[in-house]
Amino acid sequence: MDFLICRMKRIVILSGAGMSAESGLKTFRDSDGLWENHNVYDVATPEAFARDPELVLNFYNERRLQVLEAEPNKAHLALADLEKHFHVTIITQNIDNLHERAGSTRVLHLHGEIDLARSSIDASLIYPLNGSQINIGDTCEKGSQLRPHIVWFGEPVPMIEEAIPIVELADILMVIGTSLAVYPAAGLVNYAPHFADKFYIDPNGMDGVNIHNFNVIAKKAGDGVPELVMRLLE
Ligand code: OAD
Repeated sequence: MDFLICRMKRIVILSGAGMSAESGLKTFRDSDGLWENHNVYDVATPEAFARDPELVLNFYNERRLQVLEAEPNKAHLALADLEKHFHVTIITQNIDNLHERAGSTRVLHLHGEIDLARSSIDASLIYPLNGSQINIGDTCEKGSQLRPHIVWFGEPVPMIEEAIPIVELADILMVIGTSLAVYPAAGLVNYAPHFADKFYIDPNGMDGVNIHNFNVIAKKAGDGVPELVMRLLE
């Protein structure tokens, strides 16, 4: 007896800061290399945390408040809708939780999550913050200072190992709102099968981005993503 096995098409999304721009969260490389008026190396490196932990904690405490006040935009909502018809996995470089709050259920955070804290001596000790701050003197159960659960420059990206096999199985790859300037995240696009349909959504098009065989949608995520989702559902 022959069985016809029908599987849902797999859509893999690689999202970056541009995805959340229309929710009011700033991108990294659109404002003269500054992130919320800070050089990223002054706030997003282990060296910065060792030098001035209070500055770094305060910086991320502010980012957390901003994320809590932000709302998912039309692009986040459209991607959540796609799950009704496709097997969707979102691999995001964003530390906000707007994909989840829009309703997406498979979200992998490559660079950590703003609403989690972790021990500064044991990376396996991770704690939900539920919107509260991390302050000097807040410690893990082993007594070490808590830090944001964020991948800083110069640190390994352990989730990349989980992300690669997901991209390798993509039927469709959508890259949204990322300059693809930061590795290893940027290298993920090279793992997509050659037959996969590939889309790149960014208002600046592919200026300075060195990838091939992508359909470019030179629009903001809030316009380009719902339009592409409509096309895929037709
Ligand atoms: P970037 O700031 O490098 O790139 C943001 C991209 O979003 C740019 O290509 C913009 O053109 C695009 N963009 C701006 N507005 C948009 C909109 N409304 N819709 C769609 N796209 C828009 O941010 P990332 O590529 O995400 O790492 O940066 C990667 C990593 O570098 C971040 O995760 C962060 C950073 O340093 C860490 O913090 C570890």
